[in-house]
Amino acid sequence: TIDSMSKAFIGALDAGTTSTRFIIFDDAGRPYAVHQIEFEQQYPHAGWHEQNPYEIIKCANDCIDGAVRKFVASGYDVSDIKAVGITNQRETTLVWDSETGKPLYNAIAWPDTRTSRLVHHFKDKNGAENLVRLCGLPLSTYPSALKLVWLLQNVHTVQDARKRGTLMFGTVDTWLVYNLTGGGKAGTDTKFVTDTTNASRTMFLNINSLKYDDFLLDFFEVSRGVKLPDIVCSADNEAYGNIASGVLAGVPIASCLGDQSAALVGQRAFNVGMGKNTYGTGLFLLYNTGEEPVFSKNGLLTTVGYHFKGEKPIYALEGSIAVGGAAVKFLRDNLGLISESDEVGQLAAKVSDAGGVVFVTAFSGLFAPYWIDDTQGTIYGITNYTTKEHIARATIEATCYQTRAVLEAMAKDSGYEMKTLKVDGGMSNSDVCMQIQADIIGLDVVRPQYRETTALGAAIAAGFAVGVYASFDDLKKVNTDGETTFKPSITEKKREKWYKLWQRAVSRCGGWLQ
Ligand code: G3P
Repeated sequence: TIDSMSKAFIGALDAGTTSTRFIIFDDAGRPYAVHQIEFEQQYPHAGWHEQNPYEIIKCANDCIDGAVRKFVASGYDVSDIKAVGITNQRETTLVWDSETGKPLYNAIAWPDTRTSRLVHHFKDKNGAENLVRLCGLPLSTYPSALKLVWLLQNVHTVQDARKRGTLMFGTVDTWLVYNLTGGGKAGTDTKFVTDTTNASRTMFLNINSLKYDDFLLDFFEVSRGVKLPDIVCSADNEAYGNIASGVLAGVPIASCLGDQSAALVGQRAFNVGMGKNTYGTGLFLLYNTGEEPVFSKNGLLTTVGYHFKGEKPIYALEGSIAVGGAAVKFLRDNLGLISESDEVGQLAAKVSDAGGVVFVTAFSGLFAPYWIDDTQGTIYGITNYTTKEHIARATIEATCYQTRAVLEAMAKDSGYEMKTLKVDGGMSNSDVCMQIQADIIGLDVVRPQYRETTALGAAIAAGFAVGVYASFDDLKKVNTDGETTFKPSITEKKREKWYKLWQRAVSRCGGWLQ
């Protein structure tokens, strides 16, 4: 084989909201083989967003297969792959039966807003005021908790399984690990686990103790009859078991992190005050706050950044923005303004501003830092002058304005202003988008050469777990070459004028759903 004697390779499975990929990295964080599949999203009613649990598994297996085949075709051996790391869309909620291993309903995806009534019901419940301090998250449609409550209240098969004691709950990490390690079949060592980063998105985890919290389980009425996965570290060489079958049978799964946590690791934001913004289906700005959780007064979430076995957990403040790439997809699939997502930048670049148009992309309500749940996507300022170029530009600007709002909230909460914004993910590939981002926040935007930092982060975590890396010093050479910096290029006056327009639009968008 090629130089595999000197190299250890790690495979990273990145199961995102709209696509799955498997990437095989060497120990210097260089990708050697990749396979990616976009999968189907189901929107059965306005505000509902589901995914087929079988498809999540099929895409994972097909991506593993595809990438490993390419790896082997390049002259490497499967045995060179020392471990697999998993990273995933968070909060998305699955339920299945422990006797059959079969799903009892579609996965309810994180942007789904069917639980908005439940949010109001639970906000009025005794004890609701304790939630944020206990789990770091405010009540909203976003975390897993109310999705599970909805399933328990509305789906007969789920209710039956609960009565029989066979109801399993999990987020996508748990569903993937469960199936990759045997799917509950006899003779397999199937693992039913979740890592602390994923568990911190459910509202069932006590953010201080990193264990399930009895008060929270009682509050959501899930303390009886629901099997919850064991909570383990994000990087662990034993907890996740081995892949049970397929081309990687026998290879250990050594890490598992929510995708935003993985991107934090992939950007090597290991010190307090370091952060990153990932432009995926949504946008998620995470800011490392160190070994203690910091609670926001300005609409941010407290979450587990990452948690390597044998080390203290590292916490983060998070600004979650529900719609980023999802709005570009909307322009492509629903409006047909573009035929490929990456055309959005070229279209927007044809105009120098949005021509007075502001697109509040509140498809799932507005998340951080606003948390306005009684609104939907709204376009303001349309006239006969408006063109599709303006709409494309306003779509990009919406993500950039929300990033500014989140940055301002972070500065207030932490007392520290970020000097530069580290970016990654799909939309960060567009120079136009990143220039608009730099203009809107008035800060340098720094983009690494390799932008699949989510997968890279899962690989790094797995590398720590199996001893490929012993300390952060070993990562000095990982993805450090070839950064691009976008510098703000508009006047302060223009920046403030644009942002005021955005703020006005946000202040008007609430109340639509009442
Ligand atoms: O919280 C949802 C987040 O994990 C989804 O990430 O990259 O699929 O938008 P992404």
